[in-house]
Amino acid sequence: MLFPALADLMKAFHSSEIKRLNIFGNFRQVLKFTELFHFKNYSLCIFAIKYHDMNAFYALKIKEIIRETPQAVSLSFEIPLELLDKFSYKAGQYTTLRIPFEGKEIRRAYSLCSAPNSGEFKVTVKEVPNGSFSALANNKLKAGDVLEVHPPEGKFIFEPGTISQNYAAFAVGSGITPVMSIIKSVLFQEPGSKFVLVYGNRSLVDTIFYKELLELEIKNPDRLFIEFIYSRTREDNSQFGRIEKSTVNYVLENKFNDTEFKSFYLCGPEEMIQNVTGILKEKGIREENILFELFTVKDNGAIDINVEGETKLTIVVDDEEMTFSMDKNKTVLEVALDHDLDVPYSCQGGICSSCIARIKEGKAEMRKNQILTDSEIAEGLILTCQAQPTTPTLKVDYDDV
Ligand code: FES
Repeated sequence: MLFPALADLMKAFHSSEIKRLNIFGNFRQVLKFTELFHFKNYSLCIFAIKYHDMNAFYALKIKEIIRETPQAVSLSFEIPLELLDKFSYKAGQYTTLRIPFEGKEIRRAYSLCSAPNSGEFKVTVKEVPNGSFSALANNKLKAGDVLEVHPPEGKFIFEPGTISQNYAAFAVGSGITPVMSIIKSVLFQEPGSKFVLVYGNRSLVDTIFYKELLELEIKNPDRLFIEFIYSRTREDNSQFGRIEKSTVNYVLENKFNDTEFKSFYLCGPEEMIQNVTGILKEKGIREENILFELFTVKDNGAIDINVEGETKLTIVVDDEEMTFSMDKNKTVLEVALDHDLDVPYSCQGGICSSCIARIKEGKAEMRKNQILTDSEIAEGLILTCQAQPTTPTLKVDYDDV
């Protein structure tokens, strides 16, 4: 991989037509190149490195920042023509932003709220208490700033078909962001399909996309149906409370009792997702028709893995293999990052699935896992941000997933 990339770089460098190039992707390789060619001021002198790299981030310019609520903004990015393929996405997917912050690197995963066929690439960032990137996005970033952005990923997706279907979503707070992308895709790409949204917030003023949703509902009176639910304020044309069993019953048994839904999309805090999933299953909805995306998980959801001693850990990433000795109380991802390996990850909290690898030798246990199914675990897949080794040797492969 190194030499084709190097050839590209040198060709580009000697081309008089190219005045300005961009650094893309793996910083370790960029540093290798800049050292090799004595480009000491590489932070000013920006080069293009093109190679396949599952962990590549790309410098994208913010086209526009839109204030959605007092606590949330949407960032819309400009995608250069040469990156359109890499940044094409399915409704419901997320992207990861990589940001230098107080001498470290932080990564944050955000769902795309725009629709794939809209030509937009837009995420929404809600400011959270003591948040680092969320505070930056809400208060400091401006159009024209450049962020490092990972191509979209994720399995919480809607793929348009050729026949008309019915879909329902239960979303809370910023959990609306991937659901917004899915709603727009259903409305624009499956012309006869219907969508029922149950959307919980504390109050109307906190409701992300309130106006846009109402406009979509008015434009599609026979296809989009929205139940707004507020837990702190009483508003017209809405329910007071939270999404709970009675809400699900009201929607499925009362308002839409003669409607058969193809899929249910759940997005928001873990508790809501668990509750609604349980109720849907009681009603006979099959598990494969319930898709969910966690936005937060309960801290007390993790199990303690009591292991002592050291493990010989081998990590395969980007066709390179490295072996280390590790404390069994650490996770595989922590050790990979301690050794500066360019492995894929995003949330570091067992939510996003970016850090999946396959166990090739040995065993590991996950502190928590709401992402991988039993059959995926049986196949050897693990979330490396949650996985602690339980055998004297462990080999994991990030390339084979
Ligand atoms: S980094 Fe998100 S699940 Fe591991």
